[in-house]
Amino acid sequence: SAAEKGGYDYFMLKEIAEQPKAVADTLLGRIDAAGSLSLDEVRIPASVLREVDKVVIVACGTAYHAGMIAKYAIEHWTRIPCETELASEFRYRDPILDQRTLVIAISQSGETMDTLMALRHAREQGARVLAICNTNGSTIPRESDAVLYTHAGPEVAVASTKAFLTQLVACYLVALYLGQVRGTKWGDEIVSVIHELSEIATQVDEVLETMEPVRELARSLAGKNTVLFLGRHVGYPVALEGALKLKELAYMHAEGFAAGELKHGPIALIEEDLPVVVVVPSPRGRSVLHDKIVSNIQEIRARGARTIVIAERGDTAVRPYADHLIEIPPTPVLLQPLVATVPLQVFACELATARGNEVDQPRNLAKSVTVE
Ligand code: AGP
Repeated sequence: SAAEKGGYDYFMLKEIAEQPKAVADTLLGRIDAAGSLSLDEVRIPASVLREVDKVVIVACGTAYHAGMIAKYAIEHWTRIPCETELASEFRYRDPILDQRTLVIAISQSGETMDTLMALRHAREQGARVLAICNTNGSTIPRESDAVLYTHAGPEVAVASTKAFLTQLVACYLVALYLGQVRGTKWGDEIVSVIHELSEIATQVDEVLETMEPVRELARSLAGKNTVLFLGRHVGYPVALEGALKLKELAYMHAEGFAAGELKHGPIALIEEDLPVVVVVPSPRGRSVLHDKIVSNIQEIRARGARTIVIAERGDTAVRPYADHLIEIPPTPVLLQPLVATVPLQVFACELATARGNEVDQPRNLAKSVTVE
């Protein structure tokens, strides 16, 4: 009913708008007064976490994209080797797991069969399993050694939005917590990132306030057949997520690429007026990556692409090459997906609406996939 949708036309719009609160709720009570993480609910003893020598993340769809981003954070802050794998592929390749492996299973519903089968396999091999889940008492957390709940609240729209942002927050918390428990050379950075995480809800809100031009752009592209998405580093999974949202909602051909792969094939796809969304890393800090992506943008634009650039506010270097510029607030490099994903959600939702599609219930899809 209209009341359930809180005055929005679709649950998806409501859930996009709820993201600042969802992010804040997922942080609530997990950062103590001294600015350290207290994750007592993760009932895996610190002594065990200190012995972990490998992290494996399993998930599907949007949750898998959160897991891909988590890999960057976990390896950077903890120096523990981490791999992220599609749950549906995981157990079939006979993965190497033992008591020192920490498996993280990410799932909004907690009922995704592929993810459940992956975690059962991991436990049979003696690995510890930590679930990151949004649904209290669902099967995946019940069968895991521990759970860190995301507090997105119920997500009704089939296309995941607020659950994704909170999965990211939970992943960062786990990564920072592992870093804190194990003590790494990044101690100071961990302290400052914990602080910056607490500012993120406000920044997501800022992004939401500036989405009208994105909606207008989406409507103008309703007649297109293909949209490509490019990103690098943590922007690469964001590009994949932008493409997934567009497939699910707008039923358009959409693909995400790592920008560095362009020259190895995908650049052949570029043609006159093809919309290409590019997620640009911050020009601060990792400036090498920034410069590389700016030259990628120049390359595709020279071949006729219509460039839709998501860049940090104040990034003047990229401006001359952006046919459409979507500005996002500055964040620490690893946290950028929390703000960069939001315009892509709005973009896909508006395109779907412009194409006359059913936003909350896309064709052929179910909210939770309980078959393998
Ligand atoms: C996201 O928009 C999708 N509908 C889908 O990819 C989803 O993220 C995937 O099926 C995993 O679901 P889960 O988080 O409930 O396990």
